[in-house]
Amino acid sequence: MSGSTPDGAADGALPGGFVLARIGADGDPSSFLELRREGEREGTGVRCDLSRVSLRGGLAEARAMPIVKALGDARTVVDATAGLLGDAFLLAAAGFRVLAIERSPVVHALAADGLARARRDPRLAALIGDRLDLVCADARAWLEAHAGTSDAPDAVVIDPMFPPKRKRSALPRKEMAMLREVVGADLDSAELLRVARECARMRIALKRGDDAEELAAPEWTIGGTTVRYDVWRGSRGANTGT
Ligand SMILES: C[S@@+](CC[C@H](N)C(=O)[O-])C[C@H]1O[C@@H](n2cnc3c(N)ncnc32)[C@H](O)[C@@H]1O
Repeated sequence: MSGSTPDGAADGALPGGFVLARIGADGDPSSFLELRREGEREGTGVRCDLSRVSLRGGLAEARAMPIVKALGDARTVVDATAGLLGDAFLLAAAGFRVLAIERSPVVHALAADGLARARRDPRLAALIGDRLDLVCADARAWLEAHAGTSDAPDAVVIDPMFPPKRKRSALPRKEMAMLREVVGADLDSAELLRVARECARMRIALKRGDDAEELAAPEWTIGGTTVRYDVWRGSRGANTGT
């Protein structure tokens, strides 16, 4: 079925042999938007499904995550690379007020659809409350416009899309591989990191593959099993040591 997505991304054939399509009838609360390759069976593509974000341990599990530890005492967070909202959802569940920014209209349409369904699901809605918002914009422009203002966030998290690792064991999940084909590698992420460091008041956390080179020398690093967070103090933290 063709139509238009809430943010105006074309619903139908996309360049590169992809299709963005709604599965299920318009108005059916269980219908969802998916991205799939032309010719693939309906229902087999990529969608934003926040019920798959594992959080069986609830708030305690969310607060123990490395990304949460990286943000220290921050309360407001911009997720500058929203993607399919996995990290933004976890941060909102951990109690942060999150603004998720995604620049690809296609990825934003998938994320907006997933967030709308999550808000209708009592369990997911209770986890995030009213703490997660999503906009379609280039985060570099947003952060530049808000640096030094009262709307500057305490923290910015960045999880850029990188070219696939060469190691066979690190093949990306199907979702990430397809999204990478649609949005490409984020080759401007050093610039995004630069403006994030000028805007965030307390912390900047950059998610990297465990063996990826540094975009800039971090002040410290928090390791996970397959990823690490390179962390910097923001403009306020640099002066106060927070
Ligand atoms: C690796 S994905 C992020 C995945 C996300 N952390 C998640 O949990 O689903 C990177 C995303 O960031 C977006 N992105 C990269 N640079 C951006 C920018 N300057 N502004 C907004 N979005 C950006 C890309 O379009 C892509 O969808």
